[in-house]
Amino acid sequence: KRPAGAPDKALAKPVKKVGVIGAGLMASQFALLFARKLRVPVVITDLDQARVDKGVAYIRGEVDAMRDKGRLSPDDANQVKALVSGTTDKTQFADCDWVIEAVFEELGVKQQVFAEIEPIVAETAVLATNTSSLSVEEIGANLAHPERLVGFHFFNPVAVMPLIEVVNTPATDDATLATAMGIARKLGKSAVITADRPGFVVNRLLAKVMGEAARALDEGTPLPVVERSLAPIGLPMGPFELIDLVGWKVAAHVQDTMVGAFPERFYASPNLHALAEIDGPLVKTKQGKVEDLSK
Ligand code: CAA
Repeated sequence: KRPAGAPDKALAKPVKKVGVIGAGLMASQFALLFARKLRVPVVITDLDQARVDKGVAYIRGEVDAMRDKGRLSPDDANQVKALVSGTTDKTQFADCDWVIEAVFEELGVKQQVFAEIEPIVAETAVLATNTSSLSVEEIGANLAHPERLVGFHFFNPVAVMPLIEVVNTPATDDATLATAMGIARKLGKSAVITADRPGFVVNRLLAKVMGEAARALDEGTPLPVVERSLAPIGLPMGPFELIDLVGWKVAAHVQDTMVGAFPERFYASPNLHALAEIDGPLVKTKQGKVEDLSK
């Protein structure tokens, strides 16, 4: 049975080479997943060689760790490593049929990325963005073929989180949507199709939790108390450990987007951006004890 709103699988385009724009935390994690699960060449790019090298080194290190734990055979590990390459030369994306970006969460930056890549790739290539809260339609506003752009939103840690939000804009065509759904299936993830709304589905809920956690702090509840407050409902992490994982800058951006879209529904903490400027984790959780590192 097809998931709600899913197009016919037969419309999915074959993916023989993947292009990943951005070599940061999210991009490196999903580049590795593409190589492991699709077993096709994956090329990564970023602004400079140092960033590209860092992303490729991260992937190689993760593959070695998986091999050492017996999760990948030595042959598979070598194959996966050989499939991943890094470059600052975007013309190497010319034969990619699925190109996904995870660059800085700023509309103009993402529009620029697609303006550069669209003339390089074939007309049949499918384009995707891992944006967590920008409008996918606006990201594709200047594309010659906006029908081939889809949102493909991973969660951190990519290897473990089972869900992908596939964001369907009013322009996205069925072949693009079917390709995205097919890739999610091959990655072993469950995919939900969501409308192109601020925060899609997951971040609407998450921004509520993060906002209320920030509000409790602002009202004087000690951080370790707030941090432990989600354990009784079975969530694996407290709100601040989760923000540490996602990154405070990303969390602040999600919060800004939601407050901007729905000022009456979401809480704008005056302290969130100051906390986002602190370089490093703000919470240490050890054997149920929570330490506030923000002071
Ligand atoms: N990469 C790969 N694998 C990882 C990993 C990582 N970064 N972190 C953990 N794992 C794996 C471990 O290897 C382990 O695998 P096995 O069971 O096969 O050994 C498994 O995950 C569990 O890890 P641990 O035993 O070390 O730790 P844990 O049981 O405490 O789980 C966790 C860690 C999976 C991160 C768990 O705490 C969790 O699910 N946290 C919530 C994460 C979450 O909500 N993420 C969504 C954030 S929102 C977002 O990303 C998007 C956005 O737009 C803001």
